[in-house]
Amino acid sequence: MKRTLLFFCLFVAVILIPAESKPKHKDKHENHGKQSKHVERGKKKLTFEDIIEDVVFTESSDDDDDDDDHGNSDWLFELQDSDGRCTPNPCLNNGVCKEKGRKNFKCDCPKHFKGRKCEKAPRVCRKGACGHGECVLTSSRPHYACKCKWPFQPPDCKRISVCEPNPCQNGGQCIREGNNFDCRCPEGFRGRFCRVGPNDCYVGDGETYRGNVSETEHGFDCLYWNSHFILDLGSNPFHSFEDREGLGLHNFCRNPDGEPKPWCFFRKGRQLFWDYCDVTRCPEPTKGPTEAPVVPTSPYPTSAKPPSTTPPTPMTTEVPQVSTTPTVVTEVPPIPKPTEGPNISTATAAPLQFQTCGQPQPKKALTRIYGGLKVSPGAIPWQVSVQEKPSNSQQPYRHVCGGVLISSCWVLTAGHCIQPNKDLEVVMGSLSRNRLDPTAQTVEVEHSIRHENYRETPKAVYNDIALLRLKGTEGFCANETQFVKTACLPDPQIPDGTACTISGWGATEQSDYGSNHLLEANVLLINQEKCSNRDVYGSVLDPTMFCAGYLQGGVDSCQGDSGGPLTCKQNASHVIYGLVSWGDQCGRKNKPGVYTRVTHFLDWIRSKTGATP
Ligand code: ARG
Repeated sequence: MKRTLLFFCLFVAVILIPAESKPKHKDKHENHGKQSKHVERGKKKLTFEDIIEDVVFTESSDDDDDDDDHGNSDWLFELQDSDGRCTPNPCLNNGVCKEKGRKNFKCDCPKHFKGRKCEKAPRVCRKGACGHGECVLTSSRPHYACKCKWPFQPPDCKRISVCEPNPCQNGGQCIREGNNFDCRCPEGFRGRFCRVGPNDCYVGDGETYRGNVSETEHGFDCLYWNSHFILDLGSNPFHSFEDREGLGLHNFCRNPDGEPKPWCFFRKGRQLFWDYCDVTRCPEPTKGPTEAPVVPTSPYPTSAKPPSTTPPTPMTTEVPQVSTTPTVVTEVPPIPKPTEGPNISTATAAPLQFQTCGQPQPKKALTRIYGGLKVSPGAIPWQVSVQEKPSNSQQPYRHVCGGVLISSCWVLTAGHCIQPNKDLEVVMGSLSRNRLDPTAQTVEVEHSIRHENYRETPKAVYNDIALLRLKGTEGFCANETQFVKTACLPDPQIPDGTACTISGWGATEQSDYGSNHLLEANVLLINQEKCSNRDVYGSVLDPTMFCAGYLQGGVDSCQGDSGGPLTCKQNASHVIYGLVSWGDQCGRKNKPGVYTRVTHFLDWIRSKTGATP
């Protein structure tokens, strides 16, 4: 699975990026080291010359340097089509599907969206609409606004005026140097515009930070959270950013996704990066040990989250141009206290547990902004890390495969994940691979059952399925929490072309070792005949498996993802439709991922687990 996730990243890039040379979309957490070479060490002051030379601010009269990506997206969508009808709805961004004849359909797109499947986002920010300023998308007419780079002046950021009016806030003095300026801030204030006050600090991981810092640690200006650079990555700007307390129509640093401290997106040329911000940590409280520091800017209580160990690495994402499905903005539930969770063996039986399946926690909008790659807490609560160590050894367990929780005591995984002479355990409820989140539950595997007809050939793996029976008492093994839930078993077949979700810690384009964060991507179910084409996998496929991904390559699962879930939505629940199984390398053209067809094994699963898995 390792590469799989890498290619998730790529998938989004490939799908969404067109005009620029090579898609290089990456998860914000997957760029360890690589992108740091783009970031100058030490603070960098943005000069007038930098602004003048910025390619994005160069006015162009034609469209093709900006948005021409749409050109190649249509064929891409069509390539995966099943029979071109309205179930499932092929129209993106809330488009309404109308059937046309036996094989065709037409999407009625909401205002501003275009394309056969309404995949083309509003393009109000093209053609240097904002002179020397960043274009941000808004929900009211004219659907964009310009945020000028000083000394360029509103409304269209084309006229210059250096210190008039004074850009420095809080009594700061504007010092002019040619077309450049400096703000001399009163004591206690800082930032390019003296916007950051003396009490501007964050506590914990900064999830509650609502201060005014808008520069990265290396001095780059943060992008507005509604900048078209970010939103074009696949989020619907007209549905996003309602949360004005947190992310909103501003460019202040925030930490909506569990990073160790507030961060923001920034841009170099046409590339999107992220980095931690130049924010100050609030002094430790001197009173009682449990009392949280006072944060004047924050209306929310301190998060119970522990600091994460993610290294501060910028992300790069070339800016894609096609919008995908709309983002649903919902609140993320608080992370529970560390006491909630593990220690299964001492827990008392909870008869009402796992009554529902396939219901994740609502997702945060942010996840979608940069491609839906980083899983937010509780979004894939059935994802399991299957870990092994040599039998009876003292060695630590290490991640080998993904798995899927289908009931309190049963995990589905791939048959090839079961090796002789290994002890197995599963870790659930953790997004992190090399560090246990406080929400994690670790449970030993009592025994594993690999399918009797499991078979490997040099070309394919057949009947690649196994069940892990977890250790527990009286049918109670995993403990249901916001972060640990079951996926549903599927009903019969789901149509080709349906977008489903894969996830795992497997290899990515940056790291053969895999990802420390659970990553997810969308893949499309590929028609079995198409996948059995000579150019694809030919005759090695059998009914125990199916292909999903993109025939043009890109998004895919990879080594280390095996056994993990491919879930699709069926009747408003997430069902486990496939298990990551194999593929010819990862993310290659005409070599999509191959998944164990879970519907083929429903009787087998039921017979092994008893009536109610
Ligand atoms: N066999 C791999 C594993 O054990 C999964 C490979 C999936 N490959 C792919 N191209 N989707 O993790």
